[in-house]
Amino acid sequence: MAQSLYFPLLLMALCSISECVQRQYHFINEMKNWTEAQRYCREKYTDLATVHNMNDMIQLNKTVNVNDRGVWIGLQGTNDSKWHWSSGDPVLFLDWASGQPTGSDNCTVLSNGQWFVGACNISWFFICYNNKLIVIQQNLSWSEALRYCRQNHVDLVSVQSVEMQYEVMNVVKLASTEAVWLGLHNYCSMNMWLWLSGDMVCYQNWAPGNGSTPENCNLEKRKGAVQSGGDQTWISLPESRRLNFICTNY
Ligand SMILES: *[C@@H]1O[C@H](CO)[C@@H](O)[C@H](O)[C@H]1NC(C)=O
Ligand SMILES: *[C@@H]1O[C@H](CO)[C@@H](O)[C@H](O)[C@H]1NC(C)=O
Ligand SMILES: *[C@@H]1O[C@H](CO)[C@@H](O)[C@H](O)[C@H]1NC(C)=O
Ligand SMILES: *[C@@H]1O[C@H](CO)[C@@H](O)[C@H](O)[C@H]1NC(C)=O
Repeated sequence: MAQSLYFPLLLMALCSISECVQRQYHFINEMKNWTEAQRYCREKYTDLATVHNMNDMIQLNKTVNVNDRGVWIGLQGTNDSKWHWSSGDPVLFLDWASGQPTGSDNCTVLSNGQWFVGACNISWFFICYNNKLIVIQQNLSWSEALRYCRQNHVDLVSVQSVEMQYEVMNVVKLASTEAVWLGLHNYCSMNMWLWLSGDMVCYQNWAPGNGSTPENCNLEKRKGAVQSGGDQTWISLPESRRLNFICTNY
């Protein structure tokens, strides 16, 4: 009994609210020096791999073939002997192998789950990452936002769990509008809200008075948005409203 209670608590600890599965890692099966690897990742993804916690390390290790000798990640040293992420994120977590970092080399190689310094001009395989969610700071109607996400990313975000709501809350503060479109639409005649995936709205985070009362079907169609400030609950808005929006990269 004690064990079955302990296990979910442990998972929660590994996967802290703001940091849970925010990044998606991509192993690149090409050898490049660190600078070229960085250029490649910035072109095709967000940047060279950034790692913020043990949960990220677990995800990162899963993308690497254990037989590979080493792969570049985005940590680089400067001559002030500090380490910086290529992405510009603060350095919150380090996973150096024992005795590392040492020597005068300034780039970081992941090998067997730990980090080693490596000479930046050597070619290794490498790992890029994508942010899973991205706030687009353009003011578009819901349909325009949907088209934008499908053309440039994957889709407008569906928020089907409290974990995803936390991820949304984490990125939505970048928005310039008071609310931000979600992939949530209203079937007025049936008085029903659905996610773009076609799923019904099971996990709910509506603001009071929103989402539950029937919408007026003679007026414009309604879509769902998350408020970027306050308690970041969801509201129902006419679809022509011009808002920032959140696309998924997965
Ligand atoms: C790092 O090196 C650059 C160029 O050699 C130099 O301008 C800069 O002052 C150095 N920074 C530190 C903190 O030593
Ligand atoms: C990395 O590779 C590119 C292309 O081969 C080369 O131009 C560049 O000088 C290399 N950078 C380093 C630091 O070796
Ligand atoms: C979008 O709308 C917000 C709020 O009205 C405004 O502050 C922002 O400048 C607009 N952004 C663009 C790119 O037009
Ligand atoms: C929906 O929520 C917003 C924000 O809390 C509120 O201003 C609005 O009145 C609500 N809509 C209805 C129909 O109650």
